[in-house]
Amino acid sequence: MSIILVTGANQGIGLEFVRQYAADGWEVIACCRTPEKADELQALAKENPAIAVEKLDICDHAAIDALGDQYKNIPIDVLLNNAGIIGPVPIAENIHRQHFGSIDYSVWQQVIETNTFAPIKLAEVLVDNVAASEQKKIVNITSNVGSIVERCLPAIAYGTSKTALNKATTVIAKQLRDRDIIAALFCPGAVKTRMDAWGNAGVGIEESVSSLRPLIDSLTMSDSGSYRDYTGRTIAW
Ligand SMILES: NC(=O)c1ccc[n+]([C@@H]2O[C@H](COP(=O)([O-])OP(=O)(O)OC[C@H]3O[C@@H](n4cnc5c(N)ncnc54)[C@H](OP(=O)(O)O)[C@@H]3O)[C@@H](O)[C@H]2O)c1
Repeated sequence: MSIILVTGANQGIGLEFVRQYAADGWEVIACCRTPEKADELQALAKENPAIAVEKLDICDHAAIDALGDQYKNIPIDVLLNNAGIIGPVPIAENIHRQHFGSIDYSVWQQVIETNTFAPIKLAEVLVDNVAASEQKKIVNITSNVGSIVERCLPAIAYGTSKTALNKATTVIAKQLRDRDIIAALFCPGAVKTRMDAWGNAGVGIEESVSSLRPLIDSLTMSDSGSYRDYTGRTIAW
């Protein structure tokens, strides 16, 4: 049986990944920061014993190390770094804190710690688990807002955090090639989740995840270091 670890598994895109992979017969390590409030995830886990719910704040590096110890020697086919933030919630009320002229640097720091440091730290800690698996994939959920040429939104913290994640992923893709590990970046589209604070998103959660899963399934080494969206289109860096 294949095993996937999903971060941010309690809502939005992460929860849907858990639902779909579990329904497809995968074992799912579903990480979220407050399992006691993750009602939908807990209900799924109650129905399906192949879902293990783990408490994990991805900014807590000691907790990531502890998770690594807990799962030592367990193969993880897909490390799916999904959890991320645009910025503080409520999003629309706080977005000016990452606009040039009124930047709150503590917000920028928090966004970088969440969207850039955390997925790379998880990859560092769990790389042996991925290497020991059949599929050997690290998938980082990014955004086309991280593209330097395709999008120029004023959300400086969010955009730069994803640009940095993209760059870091290309570096680890190259470094991990000799261990047969594939590292790839996917933008899920503008999806109707909490992140869609302005109600502009056109892509449903189910649609995004149903589109991403075959792309993840069919990843080969030639895709390592690639940056694509949920339709499979390559995004310009
Ligand atoms: N929705 C879009 O239009 C869109 C577009 C491009 C990229 N993305 C990316 O897609 C991914 C998923 O976002 P989403 O749309 O599903 O947004 P969401 O509904 O806001 O979900 C974000 C998830 O990340 C979790 N998270 C945030 N900080 C965390 C932390 N420190 N520790 C553990 N979990 C944490 C949240 O947990 P809590 O519930 O505890 O806050 C939540 O489960 C993100 O990486 C995002 O950047 C989304």
